[in-house]
Amino acid sequence: MSKLHIRGFRASHYLRSVSILLISLVLGACAVDEEDTSPLFVRSVGTVLGLSGDPSTDRELPDISDPKAQLGMKLFFTKGLSGNQDTACVSCHHPVLGGSDQLSLPIGVNAEIPELLGPGRTHSEALAIADNNSTYDGGPTVPRNSPTTFNSGLWDQVMFHDGRVESLDKLINQNGDPGEFGLGIVTPDSETDDNDVQQADPNAGSNLPTAQSRFPVTSPEEMRGFTFTTPGTNDEVRTALETRLAANQNWIDEFTAVFGDSTVSYARIAEAIGEYERSQVFVNTPWKAFMEGDDSAISEAARRGALLFMLPTRTGGASCLTCHRGDRFTDEQFHVLGMPQIGRGKGDGTTGTDDFGRFRVSGNDNDMYAFRTPSLLNITETGPWGHAGAYTTLEAVIRHHLDPQAAFDNYDISQLEASIVSSGQTDDMVVNTQNALDKLAANKLAGLSLLPTVSLTDAQISDLLAFLETLTDPCLKDRACLAPWIPDATVGDPDGLRLDAVDINGNPL
Ligand code: HEC
Ligand code: HEC
Repeated sequence: MSKLHIRGFRASHYLRSVSILLISLVLGACAVDEEDTSPLFVRSVGTVLGLSGDPSTDRELPDISDPKAQLGMKLFFTKGLSGNQDTACVSCHHPVLGGSDQLSLPIGVNAEIPELLGPGRTHSEALAIADNNSTYDGGPTVPRNSPTTFNSGLWDQVMFHDGRVESLDKLINQNGDPGEFGLGIVTPDSETDDNDVQQADPNAGSNLPTAQSRFPVTSPEEMRGFTFTTPGTNDEVRTALETRLAANQNWIDEFTAVFGDSTVSYARIAEAIGEYERSQVFVNTPWKAFMEGDDSAISEAARRGALLFMLPTRTGGASCLTCHRGDRFTDEQFHVLGMPQIGRGKGDGTTGTDDFGRFRVSGNDNDMYAFRTPSLLNITETGPWGHAGAYTTLEAVIRHHLDPQAAFDNYDISQLEASIVSSGQTDDMVVNTQNALDKLAANKLAGLSLLPTVSLTDAQISDLLAFLETLTDPCLKDRACLAPWIPDATVGDPDGLRLDAVDINGNPL
C-alpha cells in the first residue's frame, strides 16, 4: 500500500481515478472511463476489489529444502507407490509440465512406456490384459484432466474438480470472515451421519494436500492397477504399500531421519508428499510485480485485459473476478459452465460416460454439472483446460465463457489427441455436454448462474489473454529454476524405482 504513497506526485490522479471507480462501482450506472488504462488506475481498481497481487501472504508454507519436503519429493517420484510399480505421482504431475501432464486426459497404470510423460504417452493393450485391466480402448484411461499440484498449499476449502476432499474449516468464508478451525477434512473415506452428512475423516491429516495424497494410490486407473490388493479396501491398499516400503532399509532410514523413528506409515507418506506439494509455491508473477508497484511489469494490453477481467459487466467489464476472485483467482465454489464432456466419464447419466461434477459429492440438484472454479495462477502452462481437458487454447476457453452454447456448437474435436477420438471417447460428447448446457440455461433462467452474458470484441479477447499471461511465474518456463523440485543424482533413489521422465523424443524432462 505504501507503494502508492511513494508516487505522491500523482496522488491527485490516483484519487480522481479511485473516486470515479468507486462511484461507478457503487452506482453501477455509468461505465468506467474506458480510456484510463494507466498503471495507477488499473492498480487502484485491483486494490479496491481486494487484490494485493500476492496469493501467498500470511501462509506458512515449507521450503523445498525442508527434510520432510525432500522425503515427499522422493515419494512423489517413486513408482513404488503404485501396485505394479509402473506409475508415480509425477506421471501426471511433473514440474516441467506445469505440475500437470499436458494431456487432455491422463494415462496412469499400464502405460506403454512408463517414463514417457506428456504428449505421446499411450496405454498398452498387452500390459492392460496382463493386469486384468479390461478398460483398454486405445485412448486415455482417467476421466478427468490432471490439475497442477503447483500452489497446492493455497487451497483453503476444496481439492479435486468436484471438491470431494473438503475442509470443514471455512478459513475465509464468502464475506472474508475467518471461519471455525479444527473441524477436520472430509474425504471419500468419510463416514456419513444419520442425516447422510459426511463427517471429518479422522485419518485425513492436517491439510488438504496431505488428505488428497491418500487417494491416488487407491484408484485402479491412476496407481493401484487392477490386480494389486484386489478386491480390497482403500486402507488395505495403503497397508500393502506401507509394508512394501517398510521392507526396504533405505526407506526406513529416510523415515527415521525425518520422523525420529522407523515407522513407515501411510499417514507419514501422505504428510511428506503434502509437504513437497506445499513447497511448490509459484506466485512470482508479472501481475504481482505490477500490483506491488512496478508499472512496467505488464503491458498496456494486459492492463486493458486486467480491467476487463476485474470489472463487473455493468461497468464495461467481463466479470471474471466474480468467480475467479481474490489473489488466487478462485472462489473455491462450484459453477455450471457446460465445458465439453469428453473421455470415459465417471459412470454417470444415461450414457455412463457423463460426469455430474459436484452433484456426485453433494447430491444437490443445483450442483449438477458444476465444477470447481480453477485458480488461474500459471494458467498458460497448465493446459489443456477444463475438467476434461477439452480445450487446447486459452482463447477457446474464454470464448466458451462468453457463449457456452455457441462455443460448443462450434467445438472442433480435431484439437484433441487423435487417440481420444479414435477410441470412441468423444462418441457421447454431444449428448453429455448438451445436458450440461441445458442445466446452465435452466440455472440462468432461475437466477442461479453467476456466468454473465457478455459480448467481447476480438481485440478485447486478446487483451484478456494478455492479462492471463501475466499470471504465470517465469520459473515454470525455466528448467534450472524448477530443478530443486526434481530429484537428480545427488538426491538419492531409496528403492531404485524413481521415475526419471522423458518426453516423446526420449529427452529427459
Ligand atoms: C494417472 C494420473 C495421475 C496420477 C498418477 C496422480 N494423479 Fe493427482 N490427479 C490426477 C487427476 C486426473 C486429478 C483430478 C481428479 C478429480 O478431480 O477427480 C488429480 C488431482 C490431484 C490433486 C488435486 C489438485 C487440485 O487442484 O485440487 C492433487 C494435489 C494431486 N492430484 C496429487 C497427486 C499425488 C500426491 C499423487 C500420488 C500419490 C497423484 N496425484 C497421482 C491425475 C493423477
Ligand atoms: C460463473 C463463474 C465463472 C466466471 C464468471 C468465469 N469463470 Fe472461468 N471458470 C469457471 C469454472 C467453474 C471453470 C471450470 C469449468 C470446468 O472445468 O468445466 C472455469 C475455467 C476457466 C479457465 C480454465 C482453467 C483451467 O485450469 O482449466 C479459464 C482460463 C477461465 N475460466 C478464465 C475466465 C475468464 C477470463 C473469465 C471472464 C471472461 C472467467 N473465467 C469467468 C468459472 C467462472
